[in-house]
Amino acid sequence: MVDTVGIIRAKRDGHRLSDEQITWFIHNYAAGGVIADEQAAALAMAIFFQGMESDELAVWTEAMVDSGSRLDLGAVGLPTVDKHSTGGVGDKVSLILVPLVAACGAAVPQLSGRGLGHSGGTLDKMEAIPGWRASLSVDEMVDQMRRVGGVIAGATEDISPADRCLYALRDVTATVDSIPLIASSIMSKKIAEGTDSLVLDVKFGSGSFMPELDRARELAHTMVDLGESNGVRTVALITAMHTVLGRTAGNALEVVESLKVLEGEGPDDLIEVTLALADEMVALAGLDADPAEVLASGRPREVFEEMVAAQGGDLSADLPIAPHVEVVTVEEAGWLGRLDCLSVGIAAWRLGAGRARKEDTVSASAGVVCLAKPGDAIEVGQPVLELHAEDPSLFAIAREALEGAIEVVDEAPAPMPLVVDRIGA
Ligand code: URA
Repeated sequence: MVDTVGIIRAKRDGHRLSDEQITWFIHNYAAGGVIADEQAAALAMAIFFQGMESDELAVWTEAMVDSGSRLDLGAVGLPTVDKHSTGGVGDKVSLILVPLVAACGAAVPQLSGRGLGHSGGTLDKMEAIPGWRASLSVDEMVDQMRRVGGVIAGATEDISPADRCLYALRDVTATVDSIPLIASSIMSKKIAEGTDSLVLDVKFGSGSFMPELDRARELAHTMVDLGESNGVRTVALITAMHTVLGRTAGNALEVVESLKVLEGEGPDDLIEVTLALADEMVALAGLDADPAEVLASGRPREVFEEMVAAQGGDLSADLPIAPHVEVVTVEEAGWLGRLDCLSVGIAAWRLGAGRARKEDTVSASAGVVCLAKPGDAIEVGQPVLELHAEDPSLFAIAREALEGAIEVVDEAPAPMPLVVDRIGA
């Protein structure tokens, strides 16, 4: 006989949950009516402290996938490969990578989420494009992948509904940052999405979910194992998130920067991470294409335009521009040693680019532009950041977030590698 209190007690006392206990719990929590939120919260906290064995987590994740349906992308007729990033500041990689890998010959079913807190969300960035709509039916997604190759859209209601309930609960019970709970949350959605293969961009550093490299590695191993045990060929790259990726954090600002990369310009760090992920995706899809050459051909820019147009967006329309801009200057000379990622992310969020609660709206034009990056020579009085806002009263709280975030040093700092490890077969 399975019962909720027995499940909570077993995990509290450090035991492995049986397969029956797991499937019963996930099914009933997602269905509602049997398990109270405080009981699910108690189990999440017990998992936070006791962890889960790898076969136990595999059953937990599969039960989450089975709480909804798994998309069948067979009708697309192309190898499908997706990317998921654990999130950071200025991480606009998907906007470049999806059309790039589609231009290499794969289909990319990128079902994304909205941002919460300092970390931006791909849908929020895409929604800065006038007319673009995130919500597509499964038939529309499949049709778009067949015609254009890539799709960025919101996950349908039926993708891991158990995760929606659990994530909302974890958010308010300080149980988000648990490796088994993060891994099962992310992988249940990616497995349900129906992709053949998946590349994970697991971030470490101050702007990420897992600031320590060791924990990021453990998360990556856990997610790769879950993907492989569920028939999704999975590789993870561990990439640094000590400072903003590229030079912008903010929705429309990041669309503009992504377009620059698609047009053959744009910052080196953003291009490096994008191409490293594209190389892995193309290899997993079994394609014989060189993403760097394909990017230089200009074709991914056309694919992006087709993707946007297919979802009602108009790239020829003006993107929103913030009416108020202020600069942050430094009063020392030397080299920029540190531009703290988390602080810039919080500043962008406070300027209106992010949301504190799921229901909040975001400003398309607000954000931060990094006029200098770590390693750059700095003169006295030089502007280092540009703050963009619709409401100028927000500048003061954004500046507060930036206190101590900018460090000028006497010697040029050694460049830090961006891609530090690869996990997977
Ligand atoms: N992103 C997710 O989708 N789930 C988590 O648990 C953390 C980040």
